[in-house]
Amino acid sequence: MATNKCTNSEEYCAIVATSERVAWTTEEIFRDRCFDATKNMVPDSWVRTQHLTFLTAKEQRTLNHLRAFSYVHLFGGFEEFIPIHLFGRVQEDWHADRTQLRALLRFGEEEMKHQQLFQRAEVGLEAAYGYSCGRYFDRGRLVEVTRAILAHPPLARTLILLALEWGSQRHYVDSVQKNAPDQSDPLYADILKYHWIEESQHTKTGELEITQLAQGMSPAEISSAFDQLLSIGGVVDAVFTGQVEQELSTFQHVTGRQLAESDVMALRDALNMSMRAIWVEVSFTHPNFMRVAVDLSKEGAAKLGIR
Ligand SMILES: [Fe+2]
Ligand SMILES: [Fe+2]
Repeated sequence: MATNKCTNSEEYCAIVATSERVAWTTEEIFRDRCFDATKNMVPDSWVRTQHLTFLTAKEQRTLNHLRAFSYVHLFGGFEEFIPIHLFGRVQEDWHADRTQLRALLRFGEEEMKHQQLFQRAEVGLEAAYGYSCGRYFDRGRLVEVTRAILAHPPLARTLILLALEWGSQRHYVDSVQKNAPDQSDPLYADILKYHWIEESQHTKTGELEITQLAQGMSPAEISSAFDQLLSIGGVVDAVFTGQVEQELSTFQHVTGRQLAESDVMALRDALNMSMRAIWVEVSFTHPNFMRVAVDLSKEGAAKLGIR
């Protein structure tokens, strides 16, 4: 790929400097703390089953716990492609601006750390719950989904990555910190908080990368990146469906509840809707993502319903 010299060294320098200042270790977040399974783990807005009156309060709590597990499980799985994607960008031009390369490599390393954070959270949640939770991602599916995402061009990958990162801001700042500070487990809320602190640097790098990638692309090529983004969305959507089935299966196993077929359908619908709401709606309606999308291509953004 041709070298593009139009990078902004000062901005990449500032991103790395902030990243060094706010960096954390998984150990610093967990310390000697455990999750408290006697209470809800995440806000009700993450689950949205409160209207299902056939569920007891204890069963609602179990669903809340399962959704908290699903979130860290899925985030860890989705982040698998990011270091490979970023190191690919570095390999395209390893004599590029040094500050840009450093920002990309650091970004990738942080995502590896996030995956470890989420894996530790999975183990900690299961220990607190006293049972195992269903996982959509086994080794085979993780490789399959990661390959499917990486099969798409860099601009589409960078766009979905940016959307997810802005989404992680809303997961902490909007749904926990502003609206429901007392509805979340303190350790779980810290995981969201510290993840977002590093993701907020990644969004800055992501915007710079999008600008650079779009240089030299025709309007039609940029618009088609949004079709490719929707194609990645299809891959991710299948994961949501699969993880909801894992939630339903764990729920029935743990509670021993034999729900009527119509109740299972209502529960499945509610869980599918809330799963998409906390990932897709939250990410693609973030004002900053919408701004980036429209600035890049009005025609492309319209394919996501952004005008
Ligand atoms: Fe991350
Ligand atoms: Fe990130």
